Amino acid sequence: MASLTKDLSAAASAAFEAMGLEARWGDVRRSDKPELADFQCNGAMGAAKSAGKIPRDVAAEVAAALKAHPMVLSAEVAGPGFINIRVSDAALAARAEAVREEKMAGAEGASDPQVTVIDFGGPNVAKPMHVGHLRSAVIGDTLCRLLRFLGDDVTGDTHLGDWGLQMGHLVTELYDEQPGLIYFDPDYTGPYPEEPPVTIDDLARMYPAASAKAKDDPARLERSQKAVAELQAGRPGYRALLKHFIDVSVAALKVDYEFLNVHFDLWKGESDVDHLIPELVERFRTAGLAEEDDGATIVRIARDSDKKEMPPIMLINSRGGTGYHTTDLATILDRMENLHPTPQRMLYVVDQRQALHFEQVFRAAEMVGLIDEGHLEHIGFGTVNGPDGKPFKTREGGVLRLADLNAMAFEEAQKKIEEAGKLPEDMGPEERHQVAANVALAALRFSDLMNTRTTNYVFDLDKFTSFEGKTGPYLLYAAVRVKSLLRRAEADGNEAGAIAIGHDTERALVLQLDNFAAACLQAREKRMPHILCEHLYNLAQAFSSFYSALPIAAEADAATRASRLGLASAVLKQLETGLDLLGIRVPERM
Ligand code: ARG
Repeated sequence: MASLTKDLSAAASAAFEAMGLEARWGDVRRSDKPELADFQCNGAMGAAKSAGKIPRDVAAEVAAALKAHPMVLSAEVAGPGFINIRVSDAALAARAEAVREEKMAGAEGASDPQVTVIDFGGPNVAKPMHVGHLRSAVIGDTLCRLLRFLGDDVTGDTHLGDWGLQMGHLVTELYDEQPGLIYFDPDYTGPYPEEPPVTIDDLARMYPAASAKAKDDPARLERSQKAVAELQAGRPGYRALLKHFIDVSVAALKVDYEFLNVHFDLWKGESDVDHLIPELVERFRTAGLAEEDDGATIVRIARDSDKKEMPPIMLINSRGGTGYHTTDLATILDRMENLHPTPQRMLYVVDQRQALHFEQVFRAAEMVGLIDEGHLEHIGFGTVNGPDGKPFKTREGGVLRLADLNAMAFEEAQKKIEEAGKLPEDMGPEERHQVAANVALAALRFSDLMNTRTTNYVFDLDKFTSFEGKTGPYLLYAAVRVKSLLRRAEADGNEAGAIAIGHDTERALVLQLDNFAAACLQAREKRMPHILCEHLYNLAQAFSSFYSALPIAAEADAATRASRLGLASAVLKQLETGLDLLGIRVPERM
């Protein structure tokens, strides 16, 4: 079923059309003044002007047509030609019933579903994830859930960073520690041992060590660069090491992602598209776009109309190696050739600071015809800052590991739950642990998502984990409260029944439920999860007003009691659906 807004718009549009005016004047939206009206239509002024009529006359005719509609309780002309509309209690009740019954809890699918790849996460092998990886994971995962919910065919891909200098650092550092390993024997070509020669702790130690040494020692850097070149050229021992490094890293990454309820369909990396590079380069050559420049192969992408500098792309460097641009382009080629159905669109959920990189890659991809113009999107986001307004650091001034951040959030959630005395006495340790994990998850995901994607935000764990204010835990608590209300009612033999609307807070609540469809579609269209966060928060607020204004399970009249319980279950359904889209898990009780 469509939303009230949609149905009213259709009715108003038909009225305009019946007068020989354009349908678009019939756009109806929620009223700015809820005390006067539920909805308003402002099209009469524009329509009258375009047709040389008197605005109030046009408005009166449309209002008369609306009044005849069964959904409409009243339609009044105000001021120069505004139409104020109130919907009938019956229409609201039907809408609430639909939210309760429908699979999508009142939302509706997008009218233009697309086959979409979402490239997010972007962790790097051997480098532990830090706070900077939080946003890509959480925003990307949420967009996957939301777009899929609305009918898009979505594939989420991590795009592991596993092809750069860090791999050379690891290979050479391992050689320095254990030169006798079979992987370093140039004459041996396999098979190689199944067991990895390193653990995740080894990797976490070796990469920074090598990278620090290379900083002051050009010879050390040179060795790592040579190792990458050999790896990229296919040296079997190094390839076998790469596979071990990736496997060990991915196992560790999955632990952090699991805590954040982040999931990927594909765990592909830069190294997976290496074999496509010759074909990629050939395409640029055939199109006359590749240029030899000092031993390197480059693609010039600048246009006369550019307002800023657009440096060329380095397809192959003078050492024969490839970098970040090339692997991203080869990945587009891979997806277009090997994913079924063929993607129509790719979304890159990556830090705003990489905007130039994506502009370059997108331009080159479009120039060579890998994908239609305008179908690659950089979904940039702002940084997570500390109280000083600079990217978040630990107290010691280092970067905060994502694993540590998760652990901190868990501890803080435990503390807050304790302080609030929220858990039932009889709850065992396992369930307590699960509730704390869910509160931490809600805190981290909601605080990240509710901030407009493109702005920076200040990381404030105390605030994020609070049960009060616009927070994840507040919403969790709201949902759990409805759950337990319904559970208790059912245990007392009070079933939810047919919904009837008789009170202002009930009206307000259903009008809020009705916004879900638009919030989802808008969040998809703008790639902005905060629109959905905003809706769910407002819904929880509206439920809270209803809950404090009216008795629900304690209502004496049986039909009214059943109706209010029905309304509560519609709210729960939409809250749970929406929280699931945000990747937030609702506990059974707390
Ligand atoms: N690994 C990259 C980084 O840490 C992010 C990858 C983003 N995705 C992409 N297709 N380039 O900066």
